[in-house]
Amino acid sequence: MTSLPSSSAFSPDLALAPLHVVDLPWLRAAAVQLAVLRLDLIDPALSGNKWFKLAHHLEAASAERASGLISLGGPHSNHLHALAAAAARYGFSSVGLLRGHAQRTPTVDDLESYGMQLHWLGYGGYRERHQLGFFDTWRERYPNHYCVPEGGSGLSGTLGCAPLVAHVQEKLATLGWTDHDGWWLAAGTGTTLAGLVIGEAGQCARRVYGALAGPPSHGVSHEVERLLIQADIAHPNYQLIDASRAGFGRFDAEVAAFILETEAATDVPLDPVYTAKAMMALRFHVARGYFPRGARLVFVHTGGLQGRRAAQAQLNELLR
Ligand SMILES: Cc1ncc(COP(=O)(O)O)c(C=O)c1O
Repeated sequence: MTSLPSSSAFSPDLALAPLHVVDLPWLRAAAVQLAVLRLDLIDPALSGNKWFKLAHHLEAASAERASGLISLGGPHSNHLHALAAAAARYGFSSVGLLRGHAQRTPTVDDLESYGMQLHWLGYGGYRERHQLGFFDTWRERYPNHYCVPEGGSGLSGTLGCAPLVAHVQEKLATLGWTDHDGWWLAAGTGTTLAGLVIGEAGQCARRVYGALAGPPSHGVSHEVERLLIQADIAHPNYQLIDASRAGFGRFDAEVAAFILETEAATDVPLDPVYTAKAMMALRFHVARGYFPRGARLVFVHTGGLQGRRAAQAQLNELLR
């Protein structure tokens, strides 16, 4: 196994991420206990898993004495939002390469307010991001800029998430728990999930369940395999679950109602793209007896609430 780097100078303060037990009827009925790791509370702008995924990228950019950061995402991207906020906070300039054509969204407004220089690539242009040398023209245009892969992915992003395992282990005592039986979280690129698997490899190797926000055909399983091979993890213990429902970023009245019910019962806000679908997939499995009575799980709240602003009108409409 690769040795884990100690937490980066750019790592968020984990003391700001409380672990809350939530009480929901479907958990009670199955006698399953669930604690939510509230990464959404870490910081209003750098919320959820994003800062963890960015920490080592920021460190590398700083070590290279880069003056700015370049990355990609859609017009609601949680990743670009966090990257632009981090760049502004740590004194980097930032360049965002966006999918599609120029449009205004609450996220885009924030990107501009953080000083990010935006370039709209269209859909075809954005598809070229996987081609070798894609970033070369941008590096020429923005010399001395560090390129962060889409979603803050890659081994650097993954290693930034591994310390979450030890953090939760320490926090269990605050719940009166001596241990837990597994992790449940939303998976987009699988970077955060792979980080937990790596963190667990040095601990108890508890299973990490990744609820896929996009269809399995998007190839997340290969990306996770690749990351875990790179990290030299011999016996990874994880499972990917299709939580995408109607497709990535699509949501229906059931999702809207679930968000409302869950928030009313627990005070935990969820976003419709990642965390709500992940929690719904958990409900589905818990209700079918997937976990034995008495099981204790940790759900990682990966944030994404900034993205909910643009979805709120549609969520309200679905509830009428
Ligand atoms: C709110 C939220 N949750 C979960 C994820 C998935 O994280 P990962 O790409 O590390 O699987 C993302 C995407 O990055 C996200 O924005």
